[in-house]
This record gives sequence, structure tokens and C-alpha cells, in this order.
Amino acid sequence: MATVDKKALIEKRVNEGLRGQWYPVAKSVEIKGTKPYGTRLLGEKIVLWRNREGQIQCIEDFCPHRGAPLSYGEIHEGNIGCRYHGVIVDGEGVVQRVPAMPECALEGRKALKHFHVQEAYDGVFVYVPSIDQPEPPELVLPKEMESDKWSGFLCTSVWESNYRYALDNLADPMHGCYLHADSFTLAYGSKQDLMKLDKTDEGFRIERVAQAGENFDWTEFEVHPGNIFCYLDIPYPPAGGPGGVFRIIGFTTPMDEHTTKVFFWRMRQVEGLARDSWRFLYRAQLETNHWNVLEQDRVMLEGMPDDARKREMLYQHDLGVSRIRQILTRAAKVQVEAELKANAPVAAE
Ligand code: FES
Ligand SMILES: [Fe+2]
Repeated sequence: MATVDKKALIEKRVNEGLRGQWYPVAKSVEIKGTKPYGTRLLGEKIVLWRNREGQIQCIEDFCPHRGAPLSYGEIHEGNIGCRYHGVIVDGEGVVQRVPAMPECALEGRKALKHFHVQEAYDGVFVYVPSIDQPEPPELVLPKEMESDKWSGFLCTSVWESNYRYALDNLADPMHGCYLHADSFTLAYGSKQDLMKLDKTDEGFRIERVAQAGENFDWTEFEVHPGNIFCYLDIPYPPAGGPGGVFRIIGFTTPMDEHTTKVFFWRMRQVEGLARDSWRFLYRAQLETNHWNVLEQDRVMLEGMPDDARKREMLYQHDLGVSRIRQILTRAAKVQVEAELKANAPVAAE
């Protein structure tokens, strides 16, 4: 038997995305009871739709007959029908009907994997099981989402880069005053500093030493058994209306090794009239400014080669980047070891 290169398997797992995690895959409004929604998650094609009760179903995007994408099909009474020859599959991945062939033996067969789904704060989360965590742990949500004191908008974008670059970018507050220097909110503060990293109950906090509240000056990561997210504050100039700082809550979803879907909830602490006026202002004016900032991140990350990591030279400011990588590597190691122990095939090439 060939010896297993465990280190390479761990690196591969980190690159593809951790399993045993909840990932946001879409906005709630995008999943309908009339039309399927196809996407990718950790390299796997999946399809989502709502059944007759409005609950979201998620299965592999692969017709059990001959493999056509079910996401090209239609919804029939809460199930999904393949466009190619009409086979109907339910939300558990069981073939319900083969309309072209009476009493076909495929009917009643569990043919496809199905996934656990949870909707939260306008987002749709899907659980990717792992050998050591086949059942989903609790999806821990940021406290701002659980509170009615905060009001926000979900914005999503697909970036042609590995998700690790998006996470590294979030763990790197120093880029705010350079990359985004000409933006509405991130033009302020000094361009030189040191970084400091502190452990928190839920994860870690990376922050600039000499400056707080001037620019994008810190990020906090929360690492839970079933999900990872981060948040950061952006100070707002008076023209930004009520609500003080602008809090960004970030999740990154690996669609495949070269594509990431980022999910940013943009929140402010506003109630009553202030809430209405912020929501209006956001839609009318601020949203465009924030898209421009996000585009700067996208363009930069997409321009970096996939293997930049092999040649990079980190310095003191990259404490947060190193820390997030260490967290991913440790979690991947646990998964790979569990898989090797169970003698399960580890993600085929
Ligand atoms: S491939 Fe889907 S019904 Fe034939
Ligand atoms: Fe940025």
C-alpha cells in the first residue's frame, strides 16, 4: 500500500475548504418554490428549492437517471423534476417518479445525498458533513443577527480566488488604509503601525496597536464547532447618517478551489426612525460606495496567483493571517486523521 502523505492531505483539505461546517450559499430571496437554484459548495454541485411548505431543500445537482443538472429543471408539487426526461426527485434525494416509464424500478430509490439547510437573517446556510461530525452542530450566529437593535443588509459576491485569500484579507486590517485609501470611509488614519493579536473566548482579535476607530483597525474571528465568521467595524463620517460605526460580518464560502462566495452582512445599531433613515440612505447612496470598496478587494485577490503562499514573505502585520491559517490547518488535521482512521477515501482527485 502506498504511504499516505498526511501533510499533503491536510493542505489539500484546507485548500478545498473544511468539512463539518455550515456555509452560507445564497440569499433567502434567491431560493424559490417555482424555480431551482444551482450552485457549488466545496467543489460539489448542489441544487436548492422550496417545497410546498416553503422549507428549503438541498440535494446534489445531478439527475439519478443520466446526470443532467437538476437545477435546469422545474419544481413539481414541492419536488424537483429533471428537464431532460422528466424524472422527479424529492428533497431527500429519493426518486419519486419516472414519468416516461411506467412502474420503473428507480422509483422509491434513495439516489442522491441531501444536505441540512438553515435560514438565518436573509441567508441560507448548508451543512457539509465530515466523518467526525456527520450531523450538524449548532449554527452559531453573530450576536448582532440575534438582536433587534441592529439592522443590516446582506451583500454577496463571487470572487475568482481561493477562499483562503478572502479570509487572509479579513485577518489583515492593515490593508484598509492602503488598498481602500481613496474610499468614502477608509481614507483616514496613519499608514504605519504594529499589529497585536489576542485570544478571545471564541477565537481571536487582531488589531492595530496605535490606532483604533479611525479606519478598518481590527477584526475579530469567532471559531465555533460548526462555523467560522468574523466581524470588523468601519467608522462612518457624519454624512453616513445615524447609527455610529458600520459593522461588517463576514463569512467566506469555498465554492471550489478557485472560487469563493463572500457573504457580508452590513449592520448598524439603529432603532425606530433612525433605522428607517439608515435603511433608506443605504439603498439610495451608501450601497454603491461599499460595492466600490469590495470591488477593490476582489480585484486585488483575483490578481494574486493561486500559489502565492509558496513565495510570500510575511512580516509582523501578518499575525492574523498566520493565526487563521493555523486554525484551518488544525481543523483539517482532525478531519483527515478521522478519515484515515475510518479508512474512508479522502476527496478523490
Ligand atoms: S437525465 Fe434526468 S431524466 Fe434523464
Ligand atoms: Fe478590504
